[in-house]
Amino acid sequence: MTHTSSTQEVPAHRDVPRHVAIIMDGNGRWARSRLLPRIAGHRRGLEAVRATVENCAERGIEFLTLFAFSSENWRRPAEEVALLMQLFRSALTNEAERLHRSGVRLKVVGDTKRFGRKMCALIQQAEALTGANRGLTLTIAANYGGRWDVLQALSRLAATKASLEKIDEAALGAHLAMSYAPEPDLFVRTGGEQRISNFLLWQLAYTELYFTDTLWPDFDARALDEAIASYRARERRFGRTSEQVAAALPTTQRAEVA
Ligand code: FPP
Repeated sequence: MTHTSSTQEVPAHRDVPRHVAIIMDGNGRWARSRLLPRIAGHRRGLEAVRATVENCAERGIEFLTLFAFSSENWRRPAEEVALLMQLFRSALTNEAERLHRSGVRLKVVGDTKRFGRKMCALIQQAEALTGANRGLTLTIAANYGGRWDVLQALSRLAATKASLEKIDEAALGAHLAMSYAPEPDLFVRTGGEQRISNFLLWQLAYTELYFTDTLWPDFDARALDEAIASYRARERRFGRTSEQVAAALPTTQRAEVA
């Protein structure tokens, strides 16, 4: 694994989360409450994506991961799935250049083959264009599921013929779809539901969870700051006692906490 595991090593304390992962829920309800078709909510959702990318970069967040389409979202009505695919295609075509100009590195994780050759080519082009950028890493999880991820990592690990005794967290982690990123510090789910919905199951082991009733299209800079403020108020113990956590803080912050 490029980054250390939270169950193996305690990560350094940070006031601003290094990695934020978001389940963007509530587009449909946002549209319905305005008597609009659901796709209008997804379009507004894309605007909230643009703003959140900018807001995260401004706040020094290094990794932003957005759950755009789960392995289970294929169960939606065919018309909504088709319109969402259209929206993803046009977003990839129109946004890649803008992301590149802002220094954002774009990654797409998930079983993308199911999206077809044209979409896979667009993903590859956008990833290649932005691959050397050193700003925010924006990961879009598309046709992604946490269980799919663990299984595909296991199957790639098995293909290396690694002996069973040598399989540890680092060996598996190296094959996870997001092995390039540290584990999320903060998980946000908008739209009022309180579940993980098969998102980054392995990586969320010690992530701080934050649920808000705000619908995704309304998730603005203030809503992001509220999530960060909630994260800041948490005591991240990683299995330790409160006393150990306080002793490990930099001296300046120990005074603030006391
Ligand atoms: C969940 O809201 C949202 C989705 C399944 C799609 C997310 C897509 C976007 C935000 C737009 C495009 C994004 C990218 C990254 C190109 P829901 O439809 O389940 O809302 P509901 O619970 O109110 O019905």
